[in-house]
Amino acid sequence: MIFVFDAYGTLFDVDGAAREAAKTDPALHENWAALSADWRRKQLEYSWLRAITGDHVDFWQVTAEALDWAAERHGVGKAQAVTLLKLYRALPAYPEVPHMLDRLRAKGAATAIFSNGAPEMLRDAVASAGLAKRLDTLLSVETAGRFKPAAEAYGIVTDHFGCAPGAVTFVSSNGWDIYGATRFGFDTVWVNRAGLPTDRLPRQPGRILSDLTELA
Ligand code: LAC
Repeated sequence: MIFVFDAYGTLFDVDGAAREAAKTDPALHENWAALSADWRRKQLEYSWLRAITGDHVDFWQVTAEALDWAAERHGVGKAQAVTLLKLYRALPAYPEVPHMLDRLRAKGAATAIFSNGAPEMLRDAVASAGLAKRLDTLLSVETAGRFKPAAEAYGIVTDHFGCAPGAVTFVSSNGWDIYGATRFGFDTVWVNRAGLPTDRLPRQPGRILSDLTELA
């Protein structure tokens, strides 16, 4: 059994940076959630546009540029932006993640991350959340130089494990990522944390869960 997880939004709470910064910065008290939502939206938009055009840079640059846009829109200063980026390297894992990974590994499953995240971003996030011993490998789209949902990105996973796509269970909270992974041939699980409608796309998730508790 091979379980492969998207990172941001699936294992790690992308709102964690702005939420944490707002605890010590009164200027963020009111608008940290709106800032975080714009930051995430722009991060993904930029990754999709760069995947389509081939103008690839790594996800850390995309994340910084997306924050730059969101910070201007929300009147967030340079010093606050530096703090937010530092916090993004140490996002909290969702509470059910460590035990879920332990249970999968107790059943003999291989566990991995496959993410748009640059390798050093993933290493920092995994180390900060105490997940290093719970994951066999961290795979980044940087190997292919193209963001998800491009098919060549998902090929990094089957190349690494030397398996057919159907041997992989791919888990993501992002509907667009599930679409790309399903059309690539993975068995997919959409973690619908926000209780959203299913995306109107040509492929549907194999399973839908509200969090990762029952995955194992
Ligand atoms: C990732 C982002 C896109 O981890 O969620 O790939």
